[in-house]
Amino acid sequence: MKKKIAVLPGDGIGPEVIDQAIKVLQAVSERFGRQFEYTFADVGAVAIDKTGDPLPQATLDICLQSDAVLFGAIGHPRYDNDPNAKVRPEQGLLRLRKSLGLFANLRPVTTYPTLLHLSPLKEDKVKSVDMLILRELTGGIYFGEKGRTADGAYDHCVYQVYEIERIAKLAFEYAMTRRKRVTLVDKANVLETSRLWRDTVTKMATDYPEVELDWMYVDNAAMQLIQWPAHFDVLLTENMFGDILSDEASVILGSLGMLPSASIGLHTSLFEPIHGSYPQAAGEDIANPIAAILSAALMIEFFGWKEEAETIRQAVWRLLEKGVGTPDLGLPIAHSCSHIGDMLAHLITEPDAIFLKEEKINLRSSTII
Ligand code: IPM
Ligand code: MG
Repeated sequence: MKKKIAVLPGDGIGPEVIDQAIKVLQAVSERFGRQFEYTFADVGAVAIDKTGDPLPQATLDICLQSDAVLFGAIGHPRYDNDPNAKVRPEQGLLRLRKSLGLFANLRPVTTYPTLLHLSPLKEDKVKSVDMLILRELTGGIYFGEKGRTADGAYDHCVYQVYEIERIAKLAFEYAMTRRKRVTLVDKANVLETSRLWRDTVTKMATDYPEVELDWMYVDNAAMQLIQWPAHFDVLLTENMFGDILSDEASVILGSLGMLPSASIGLHTSLFEPIHGSYPQAAGEDIANPIAAILSAALMIEFFGWKEEAETIRQAVWRLLEKGVGTPDLGLPIAHSCSHIGDMLAHLITEPDAIFLKEEKINLRSSTII
């Protein structure tokens, strides 16, 4: 069965990294006979330029009619320097999350033996890191009532029990397939919404007797993530804390260019690299496409195609193991964004490909590098 993919490359390096993800998906098609049908649509600053709206209705309709959304990145310096701009690329993303009901954002953080040197932390602290951050994405302070008064401003943080239950259920279910530990991060010593999270999640834990639930205040969690990152298995938290902690956790690995994410919920799920639009690198063919490629792997895993997803991950491992990557990875052999995409696609279609010396680059005859 053909899977319909809405492709939203967005701004900056988004289109370049998404091109590589599509190359890899085409390789999966070739090797496993899976079929994809892509429909491209605008989002972010490019959409504002064309239509005045960061999420045109046509884009939203395409997303709603697709099996998944593959998303690049949004953002442009022209808006970053003007927080009062009436129309902003981020509004497109927030509206997309709300319209697709994407209540859970999943960010797996794992380390790679050949990339330990990138981490600002000591190698022995990071070498066995394997965590899944589950961030609530459509509630809390992001979406509560906000406004200005004569001499102030407010942002309300509101959560309903069902909003907590549906993501907590996912957290327990994921934990059952992993190391069976859920850490709920909140600020229950201060915030009423956090106390509701604690009550709700604690009640639900009785349905998952094998899962160990622990709680952590967010300030302490920010510290523990750096001090004992390997402690965490599934980290469950609300929208704003999740925004902050997931960026912090991405530093453990040392490169934003490696981390994928999935946002799932009521309608079409969305898959995107966690990095931003990196406008300085746009068009240079130097961006790291691996986060986008691993996001495509999450997407096909979500379709139930585990072997295909694992094949993509294996290809990434093999490449890194050979000391090959984009320049940001500081590996012995650096290649462009598009070349890394070609090599990974080749490793998928020709699993027996061997690595030879750099001058022997020959992508169509089972010899790469
Ligand atoms: C993220 C981003 C967004 C967020 C911005 C762009 C609105 O930081 O996806 O983490 O705060 O959720
Ligand atoms: Mg963020």
